[in-house]
Amino acid sequence: MNPSSRGPERLDGVTAVILAAGVGSRMHSTTPKVVHQLLGRPMAGWVVAAAAEAFATTPLVVLSPATASLATELSEQVITASQPQPLGTADAVRCALTALPASVGEVLIACGDTPLVTAAFMREVVVARRAAGAPIAMAAFDAEDPTGYGRVVETADGTAERIVEERDATDDQRAIGTVNAGIYAVDRSWLTDALAGIRPSVASGELYLTDLVAAAHAAGTPAPIVFGPEMELEGVNDRHQFATVAAALRERINEGHMDRGVALLDPTTTWIDVQVNIAADALIEPGVTLRGATTIGARTRIENGSRIEGSTIGEDCTIRSSAIEGSIIASHVDVGPFAHIRPGCSIAAHCHIGNFAELKSTSLGTGTKVGHHSYLGDAEVGEQANIGAGTITANYDGQQKRKTAIGDRAFTGVGTLIVAPAGVGVEAKTGAGTVVLADIPDGCTAVGVPARIIREPK
Ligand code: UD1
Ligand code: MG
Repeated sequence: MNPSSRGPERLDGVTAVILAAGVGSRMHSTTPKVVHQLLGRPMAGWVVAAAAEAFATTPLVVLSPATASLATELSEQVITASQPQPLGTADAVRCALTALPASVGEVLIACGDTPLVTAAFMREVVVARRAAGAPIAMAAFDAEDPTGYGRVVETADGTAERIVEERDATDDQRAIGTVNAGIYAVDRSWLTDALAGIRPSVASGELYLTDLVAAAHAAGTPAPIVFGPEMELEGVNDRHQFATVAAALRERINEGHMDRGVALLDPTTTWIDVQVNIAADALIEPGVTLRGATTIGARTRIENGSRIEGSTIGEDCTIRSSAIEGSIIASHVDVGPFAHIRPGCSIAAHCHIGNFAELKSTSLGTGTKVGHHSYLGDAEVGEQANIGAGTITANYDGQQKRKTAIGDRAFTGVGTLIVAPAGVGVEAKTGAGTVVLADIPDGCTAVGVPARIIREPK
């Protein structure tokens, strides 16, 4: 999963070409299939990551105008080619060749909709072609249900005679359980010539890349078939396959975390994006979702139903059934249940954030407690402050947002309303229901609506 950390040396002399310009109509989505997110990466991003791990050269991705956004979403460096119209997989490869550096003599073609493919398997297909001295090698698997895949017609000696797409297949051919995985290792100059000979399919009008296999057979240089496990080669054409593949990726990621000492009480309901880092001895309860660039510290407990996105949580924290986005939480903090920490918060160590509290763009100093049903927006709160239940910062006047400052060891009574930019000073206090319209100076106690000072510091 992490390209630099495992696996043998990257293979030299071959460039991956990943097809990601199709529509994916069987998903019934307005978003192109290969752009759909799977555990923190677009679907095609998984194939790109495997290729980057497998080969020394930068992978090439074929994009359509509708999938062009992929280029910026990928964490790996890629070369891109554009296929203006989805005229079929052979046309996509033709477009790829126009953008492929002249020095590239061999390609590994893969589909952007097979996100479970591994670097090791990609290398295996290349090695098999080289060993056979064939112009093309293809990958196949025995499918539990071959529906939707191209069926592989084999020769007596086990090479490929041709691939028949489902819509063109006879009943006998449909009964074949060996299917084309859509992964091929190909000699570039042979590929250039062979693509020129491909004619549109009568059934669909598309240019099928699979016709290369029949061309190789006809020329007396048939493609060796490299068999792989269905668990690595399943293609995603519809929402059912999408769910199966998502579950497989979830399992791979979760097993990695458990191997490294993270306690996942129910890995089947725990969804952790590929970018997430979790320290050993953290404990993740059922139904938790961890997204994006998130880090969880040692011995931290994330309780059921929590959703944490793009956030850093320190050590020894407890997060109970809460949502945290784009924020940084130090160690020994407890949150929730049912708190919402929105982007831009920074919570220092030993803070407590109670149930139904909401924070946005707010910082809390060490040891501060924010009681239940509070809302702090654009607030800067000092250390050891106590924010009483139902305290609200009115930070938006309909036109602009203003900041609120609350000092160290300040204490706000239940239901205090602080209208920004008014603030509450160091060691200042408010009584229940106080409406603060002007700054409460340090050490003062204020009550009422609007707040009036009833006690000055001694
Ligand atoms: C393809 C194979 C089929 C194989 C299956 C494996 C062909 C004709 N058929 O079928 O034999 O069993 O993959 O999963 O190749 N794409 C483009 N441009 C296009 C069309 C497709 O870039 O014009 C891309 C898609 O984004 C996708 C990949 O090529 O990533 C495969 O296209 P898809 O339509 O899913 O082909 P399948 O019907 O699955
Ligand atoms: Mg497909």
